[in-house]
Amino acid sequence: MRRTQGDDVVVRTAGPDDAPGLDAMLRLLTPTSSFMRFLAGFGEPKPGLVRALLATGPRRGALLAVLPGGTAVGHACWSVDDAGAVDVGVVVVDGWQRMGLGRRLVETSLGHARDVGAVTLHLDVHPMNRGLLATLRRRLPTARHALADGLVGIDVRLADLADLAAAATAEHRRTTRQPLTSQP
Ligand SMILES: CC(C)(COP(=O)(O)OP(=O)(O)OC[C@H]1O[C@@H](n2cnc3c(N)ncnc32)[C@H](O)[C@@H]1OP(=O)(O)O)[C@@H](O)C(=O)NCCC(=O)NCCS
Repeated sequence: MRRTQGDDVVVRTAGPDDAPGLDAMLRLLTPTSSFMRFLAGFGEPKPGLVRALLATGPRRGALLAVLPGGTAVGHACWSVDDAGAVDVGVVVVDGWQRMGLGRRLVETSLGHARDVGAVTLHLDVHPMNRGLLATLRRRLPTARHALADGLVGIDVRLADLADLAAAATAEHRRTTRQPLTSQP
């Protein structure tokens, strides 16, 4: 299996027909990743869980990150409540982590959620997921963090994410601009 920077991986919407592929993907997760995502260890993915992770509806959806051959290496699901908060759950198979797939899955989820009226993002992160929490604190400076039911709940306005993305793009352009050279 070729492991590039995730460029060959496609993020696409998923549905009930993807149950076998998602089941196979969940079996590849290490116990740590499985625990950080589902907050419980499971030997065999339960069919009910797989179905729930692929549920679609007017204000919910599922996504898979798939290799050219069709193998799923990442999953996200999102749902928007009546207050306009989108809850996103995401997991990437361990060997494919840190290649930008988690970000693509979350950003695509947020795109769909915005289309159906989401205005804030809610994430629940286990307190032991320290690396991810540190990253989120750095990348989402305006987010509210609150401990509830043993989890760190993170809430941030989607408008703030758009502002951050625009600022990051401007900074990237500024720092990569080539100096003008004088013509010979
Ligand atoms: C969290 C997870 C989905 C991120 O997916 P990923 O494909 O590895 O993430 P990306 O490569 O898109 O990285 C996104 C950002 O998160 C950071 N990041 C990802 N995993 C991290 C970790 N374990 N520790 C610290 N930072 C992390 C990346 O450095 C990157 O930050 P940057 O944009 O500032 O460079 C993946 O690590 C995973 O499946 N973990 C286990 C399940 C889990 O924790 N789910 C989240 C529950 S809310």
